[in-house]
Amino acid sequence: WWDHVKPAPKDPIVGVTEAFLADPAPNKINLGVGAYRDDDGKPVVLQCVRDAEAKIAGSDFLESISASVSSKLVEESLALAYGKDSNVIIREGRFAGVQTLSGTGACRLFAEFQKRCYPESRIYLSDPTWSNHHNIWRDANVPRRTFHYYHPDTKGLNFVALMNDIKNAPDSSFFLLHPCAHNPTGVDPTEEQWREISYQFKVKNHFPFFDMAYQGFASGDLDIDAKTLRIFLEDGHSVGCAQSFAKNMGLYGHRVGCLRQANILELCLYSEGVLCSNKKQAVAVKSQLQQIARAMYSSPPVHGLLLVSTILSNSDIKSVWVRELKVMASRIKKNRSALRDSLEKLGSPFNWEHITNQVGVFCFSGLTPDQVDQLAKEFHVYMTRDGRISMAGVTSGNVNYLANAIHQVTCC
Ligand code: LMR
Repeated sequence: WWDHVKPAPKDPIVGVTEAFLADPAPNKINLGVGAYRDDDGKPVVLQCVRDAEAKIAGSDFLESISASVSSKLVEESLALAYGKDSNVIIREGRFAGVQTLSGTGACRLFAEFQKRCYPESRIYLSDPTWSNHHNIWRDANVPRRTFHYYHPDTKGLNFVALMNDIKNAPDSSFFLLHPCAHNPTGVDPTEEQWREISYQFKVKNHFPFFDMAYQGFASGDLDIDAKTLRIFLEDGHSVGCAQSFAKNMGLYGHRVGCLRQANILELCLYSEGVLCSNKKQAVAVKSQLQQIARAMYSSPPVHGLLLVSTILSNSDIKSVWVRELKVMASRIKKNRSALRDSLEKLGSPFNWEHITNQVGVFCFSGLTPDQVDQLAKEFHVYMTRDGRISMAGVTSGNVNYLANAIHQVTCC
């Protein structure tokens, strides 16, 4: 039956974790997956999650969950994304939100919905973007196009080319945008640039679909990181958003089982919302999203839902979370400076300013695939072949070793 089946190519991110795990070297470093690690390089269970676990312990939730708990979560997530304006949206019922299975699940659900409602449409993805975005829209049979985003010379934003691509795309195109902490580049437009992008989207009647997987990691502040969404909202756009709690609540480590380490991330909780212009539209959109989810996986797990909704709805626990998020974001920021300083102290002739200019969890280092391979082979340092460094994997204990390894592969 299956003789004709050829092995699928390794996933560029999951494959890095596999290679890292297979390496017996004691000094190995995993800079692949974009999940938070502490200064010992270990995954973290946040105190807010511990507090929420204590609150829900023993509750009777294993069989089913009431619709009111899951819609409360969707409303709380909406408030996190859209701030005070979310009150009006909730009151007027102008959103269709469902709990989804991971960011991948949220994006996939949206891609299926897009295909169902606009069968001839395409999706515009930034060049580059999270590698899985390509898989998701490919498997949903939505043709993909890319738009300019990153400038390899400046290691910053190619704003002029980006605006041209927005202008030149056919009217009413779908675009996937990262509202903060762009994955993989760590390059975000400024507020002013987002305003121009939003304006041009209005002119062209494009649909913005946001994948917000790292809220809080760009600036350390949830509201500042949600600014982009709020700009689009103020400008009267209808928007879609995949919203993740996997990284900013550290819930990627919630499931046990190393074999499925990449899947641990995927099992965490996300919620997805599509903002509509009226209640009737919202009810219809939600029912379609629910129908698509029912056929794909029926319903997502409930434990994560209870954790997230407990954290978001309890002001004491929420303030613990907000504090912990700041600590995570500032540890990553400190490591950016430490890595750059260390490379400069080693006398590297290259400009490493982008390490501190870029934001969020990732640094798009500019290392070539060959240099990345050499780092793995000779120094046991693992990252994706596009040179993306997950800064969460950099610690005060390994930063000098890492800088030296980068110096060796770039200078020799
Ligand atoms: C990443 O980009 O490393 C994360 O989004 C995790 C993943 O599943 O790819």
